[in-house]
Amino acid sequence: MSNETFYLTTPIYYVNATPHLGHAYTTILADTMARFQKLRLGPERVYFLTGTDEHGDKIAQAATQTGESPQAYADRISGIFQETWRRLGLAPNQFIRTTSEPHKRAVQRLLQQIYDSGDIYFGEYGGQYCFGCERFYTEKELQDGRCPDHQTTPTFIKEQNYFFRMGKYQDWLIDHIRHHPDFIRPERFRNEVLSFLKDPLEDLCISRPRTRLEWGIPLPFDAQYVTYVWFDALVNYISAPGWPDGEVFQRFWPSAQHLIAKDILKPHAIYWPIMLKAAGLPLYRHLNVHGYWKIEEAKMSKSRGSVVRPLDLADKYGVDAFRYFVLREMTFGLDASFSEEALVARLNADLANDLGNLYSRVLKLIQRYYDGRISELPGERGLADATRVAVMGVTAATERFAFSEALAAIWNLVSATNKYLVTNEPWKADPEDAQTKAVLFSAAETLRAIAILLWPFLPQTAERMLQGLGVSEPLTSIHFDELLSSSWHLGSQERRVQEVEPLFPRIEVTVPRLKPAGTGAKPLPQKSPPLVPSPSEGGELGEGCIEQITIEEFRRIDLRVAEVIEAVAIPGSKKLVKLRVRLQDEERIVVAGLKEPYPPESWAGKRVILVANLRPTKLMGIASQGMVLAAEDESGRIVLLTPEQPISSGSKVR
Ligand code: MSP
Repeated sequence: MSNETFYLTTPIYYVNATPHLGHAYTTILADTMARFQKLRLGPERVYFLTGTDEHGDKIAQAATQTGESPQAYADRISGIFQETWRRLGLAPNQFIRTTSEPHKRAVQRLLQQIYDSGDIYFGEYGGQYCFGCERFYTEKELQDGRCPDHQTTPTFIKEQNYFFRMGKYQDWLIDHIRHHPDFIRPERFRNEVLSFLKDPLEDLCISRPRTRLEWGIPLPFDAQYVTYVWFDALVNYISAPGWPDGEVFQRFWPSAQHLIAKDILKPHAIYWPIMLKAAGLPLYRHLNVHGYWKIEEAKMSKSRGSVVRPLDLADKYGVDAFRYFVLREMTFGLDASFSEEALVARLNADLANDLGNLYSRVLKLIQRYYDGRISELPGERGLADATRVAVMGVTAATERFAFSEALAAIWNLVSATNKYLVTNEPWKADPEDAQTKAVLFSAAETLRAIAILLWPFLPQTAERMLQGLGVSEPLTSIHFDELLSSSWHLGSQERRVQEVEPLFPRIEVTVPRLKPAGTGAKPLPQKSPPLVPSPSEGGELGEGCIEQITIEEFRRIDLRVAEVIEAVAIPGSKKLVKLRVRLQDEERIVVAGLKEPYPPESWAGKRVILVANLRPTKLMGIASQGMVLAAEDESGRIVLLTPEQPISSGSKVR
């Protein structure tokens, strides 16, 4: 067996703010990757590090504002980060704080080592300093004379300080990046760094005089100065595992990978490799860089009230639904827009509908037919090939943090399993028939594979699924590659399906707080030519052509009879009417573009046909949960479709 290990870090977050969506996202990505590697390599070969960055001007100032000492302030906010990660189910192996003694000692040791080798010198420098960023800016970097990040005018400061000879390593770094194409990934960020390195690299000022800043780690060779916060923070990646002699450091540093967002590319892609090189240490393997979450196309901003709090969302929708949304929605390396409405749409469509219904359906049938016992191993597994494709897809995508692709691969398997059931219709078959058992037990076994594949992404859901399926082996004892084989793993005893609770209840009332992101939710057609697919839904064919679909495809559309309870006009809209409809004992709001032929007063009591599993969308600010069917002739006359005889609401249209 190889000695392969996996060491993954997140940035250590500044304690001048409490955790928001951005911090949670990076930590969720890292947690997902760490869990995936734990499945692949075994838990003892994986080390996942996160923590808090607690020194520097920003923190000292934040503490002054709350009237606390910097240490008491840092203790409190760092505690909030730790508690938030705990409540979000994130499980790092270590949480590092830069005010801890071992970290301070490591920073001093590294500084001394680089100082002794001659790469740190004392000099005088005058330049434009931004207090917000805690760094000097060159004229070229400023935008209209202002800090590009804070939009404030920097202060000219001239003082004596210590400098790190970064310029000396510029050619070496360019060479290293060129020879290791995946050192910085995705490629766009590698290109960004190479293009930045076209200009001469200035030496880095790595000290701050104590007269100006007290809250930092004293330089080991000059007590009048404290360490520049980035030179302190980056060292956490080696201080935490116990550099130089710690066993964890020795075992894990050779496989180190960092995960950051694009905002802190430069310190990680330039300062850090040069610091390691100057200290004679091997470099990390990969720097993985993701994009930024935006709210309504803008940066999250406290003053505009658009800061998304991860715990609020987790409390409202569940930890896994929140996790699923962020992992599925953002393409690694690109920015994404956050919207609560898109989250609800994904929750209902992918989690409650596709996965949740599949799980309940299979388990309920096994309960009904076989008293919950999964006892026999069928000769063939109808879904073995689809499972293999999913495992390979998930593995390939996850290795490069392409979690959205990985989840899409899992959902292909969910769809294949749903299709398999629809084709074989075990609900209509004789339970004692060997084929019925084979179909249901194959579906249950595929659900077990889905649960294992899902564990890195949705750990709580995966554990509930395994429990429901009666799988007693702990996840950690499962070897990932086992899923690639088509053999069954019933263990020594038969499995017994447990009482089934829905995995994800549908969110029926959508009151979005934020604008839709444009992804996830598809708009309802404003006119009413139902069942004519739009070009974007794959409906564009040659003129005069009628697209053919299979019966299985048609069955995916959940058509129901719904009773209209109430209809009201929507102010400002000529065509839309808001309907409150009943489906058995469930109520929904549906917006229909049928006001002209059917004014609001004509609706009450009508029974209509509703596309009940259409992804919710927002029209004129109202979340619509379905689409009402009507027919339209060539002259444009529109007629509502209703059942020919009275029939109870909720009835399925076949
Ligand atoms: N303390 C430094 C990092 C030192 S690492 C040696 C720092 N801290 S921070 O609190 O500002 O965190 C920055 C990181 O938080 C980003 O790189 C990213 O991981 C995460 N995010 C903060 N806002 C974000 C978004 N809006 N979107 C996505 N992630 C973002 O910089």
